[in-house]
Amino acid sequence: MGRGQAKPSPAGGGGLGGGGVDRLLPPHGHHPHSDPPPPAGEGASPLIIAVDGPAAAGKGTLARRLAAALGLPHLDTGLLYRAVGRRVLDRGGDPRDPVAAEAEARALRREDLDRTDLRGPAADAASSAVAAIPGVRAALLEFQREFGRAHGAVLDGRDIGTVVFPEARVKLFVTASLAARAKRRWRELTGKGLAVTLAQVEADLRARDAQDVGRATAPLRPAADALQFDTTTLDIDAAFEAAMDLVRARLPR
Ligand code: DC
Repeated sequence: MGRGQAKPSPAGGGGLGGGGVDRLLPPHGHHPHSDPPPPAGEGASPLIIAVDGPAAAGKGTLARRLAAALGLPHLDTGLLYRAVGRRVLDRGGDPRDPVAAEAEARALRREDLDRTDLRGPAADAASSAVAAIPGVRAALLEFQREFGRAHGAVLDGRDIGTVVFPEARVKLFVTASLAARAKRRWRELTGKGLAVTLAQVEADLRARDAQDVGRATAPLRPAADALQFDTTTLDIDAAFEAAMDLVRARLPR
């Protein structure tokens, strides 16, 4: 994987590898590294673009296109929660168990993000369950921040504009109707040969939305200053163009 995907290391080091995310966590909110000077040409504050929204709304596609157009790294933060959920399942644990889930979040390795079983109904449900646990979110927070601070980035997720980078220069909130999202996800899954019905996919999305919106810590919601895109009818090219206009307007002249 290269620039523009989930793997690049934020600090030129191991990312999630080596000592795991723990290594990157500041003890008691203290930063382990003093802030390095910004890379040449990137100014004092790196360009952070937050793309949030519910599952299957098109935020991943939009984030990838923005990152490619702007030459920025992209981080699909959902992969972090998916990989934690998978690790819990591997050990026969319950993704709703805070002790087990936090332990796996702290033990996460970069290579976990390359697993090929991070998508599909079991991984979806496990990721949403571990994502509701405050200790899991805390364990993953600093990795996301370091990733973005290193060179700027486009990050997509649920709480990028509200929690991870409340100071992001551009915040987008991408939505679509449940029916439209279910159809997209169903096409994607059946295209991969999975035997799922549209009704099942819609029920799973509804349950995941309820959990992601209803949790107490970092719930899914648009930041007050986010620009909202409804992709139910807006196609991805139109959403991309509108997002790029917004980014250009926020770039220093
Ligand atoms: O974006 P996704 O569908 O791959 O995310 C999987 C789950 O991870 C999602 O149901 C909620 C959680 N998540 C989160 O809580 N915060 C994020 N920034 C990204 C994902």
